[in-house]
Amino acid sequence: MNKKFLFVKTFGCQMNVYDSNRMVGALAVHGYEPTEAPEKADVILLNTCHIREKASEKLFSEIGRLAKVRKKGSLIVVAGCVVQAEGKEILRRSPLIDIAIGPQNYHQLPELIAKYVRDQGRVIQADFPAESKFDNLPMLKTSPANAFLAIQEGCDNFCSYCVVPYTRGCEYSRPSKEILAEAKALVKAGAKEIMLLGQNVNCWHGDKGRDLGDLIRDVAKINGLERIRYTTSYPSKITQNLINTHADTPKLMPYIHLPIQAGSDRILKAMNRQYTVAEYEKIIADFRSVRPDIAISSDFIVGFPGETEEDFEQTLAVVERVQYASSFSFKFSARPGTPASLMKNQIPEEVKTRRLMKLQKLLQSQQRSFNESTVGKELDVLLTECGKMCGQLVGYTPYMQGTVVKAPKSQLGKIMRVKIIGASATALTGKILK
Ligand code: SAH
Ligand code: SF4
Ligand code: F3S
Repeated sequence: MNKKFLFVKTFGCQMNVYDSNRMVGALAVHGYEPTEAPEKADVILLNTCHIREKASEKLFSEIGRLAKVRKKGSLIVVAGCVVQAEGKEILRRSPLIDIAIGPQNYHQLPELIAKYVRDQGRVIQADFPAESKFDNLPMLKTSPANAFLAIQEGCDNFCSYCVVPYTRGCEYSRPSKEILAEAKALVKAGAKEIMLLGQNVNCWHGDKGRDLGDLIRDVAKINGLERIRYTTSYPSKITQNLINTHADTPKLMPYIHLPIQAGSDRILKAMNRQYTVAEYEKIIADFRSVRPDIAISSDFIVGFPGETEEDFEQTLAVVERVQYASSFSFKFSARPGTPASLMKNQIPEEVKTRRLMKLQKLLQSQQRSFNESTVGKELDVLLTECGKMCGQLVGYTPYMQGTVVKAPKSQLGKIMRVKIIGASATALTGKILK
């Protein structure tokens, strides 16, 4: 088989990172080797995100940039949520795209490339096929120390601002047997930590009423696996069983990403989120009652249509009460086809910017305080990547804090006991203990 090269760039969420890895695996079977150099690549694969305006704009400027450096005869393949959202339109918008493929069709990628080479015709595949892509993609043979594993995909919640139910389709839970087989394969391939992924990961359900808590307990039985995480959780679907898992499963890390989005019940209702602020805070209290040190993170949207100063103040107030360890915050972006994009009372851009800056200032100070609270402690750090400077590695504490340590490359992929000696808003520094 001729050696061919594949360059991949991934935008968007962790699900897209997972999907990109699976596509790399599918193409490896056909002789494609990953490369960091787009000018060397026979196939340039862009895995796209449609969540906010800027996300899709980035794609088209990236295609333009790559087209200038690519070698003659290479293919540009666009995958992901922009393809699902735009359909055929995407081929019209950018004549440089050779193949467009939606998130449910990744197992068909090698076949589509072969078809393109045979017919030299631009193709798009973005339907919801009867077979599951998961059943038809080869298992990965190599894994980073911190691996991703998709267990659930799609969403039935239809928050009024969000494109995900349209780009990823309705909710689907993978069977436990399949998930456990993939988890074992990942551990065999080098994973020490597995992040279970889903657009609403805690909506995962198995046979006989089994929920995510039960699945985590099963995954925890795998020898050689040391850490388990899961993301993203939807507040009203948190079960007591999942909360209890944090008390009885030591491999489950003390961290939960639980997006509240906004601190005003009126806005939550307009967003079609299925909980109130009080219900959200009760769930946080329940997590803290079984695991007092649990780190909490969230997503926030500011400037949702109709958001008043008072509504926004309520978001700041809930942040003050909860005390987040980390967070992501965004200006509301009107996405085509969503109900919120048609709402009359859109908020001016400058108001959104002002609110976002104020919120981010508060969230950053909380993140700094949380990081500072771990200085002087001894924590386990899973070393996952090389640092910016020679002789440095970066890893993660149980609370998901990025931590820079002095260590030789040979310690990559290991969990080391580290004394935390410094903290900023974004990272820790530590010293490996002998
Ligand atoms: N399923 C997850 C979130 C998935 S999208 C949940 O419900 O929590 C990731 C984040 O992007 C969301 O939590 C939200 O904060 C943000 N987001 C989604 N649509 C957006 C939009 N139209 N404008 C701004 N932010 C948005
Ligand atoms: Fe989007 Fe809401 Fe579904 Fe999350 S729960 S993916 S924000 S529709
Ligand atoms: Fe983006 Fe699709 Fe993920 S829209 S956030 S890549 S599910």
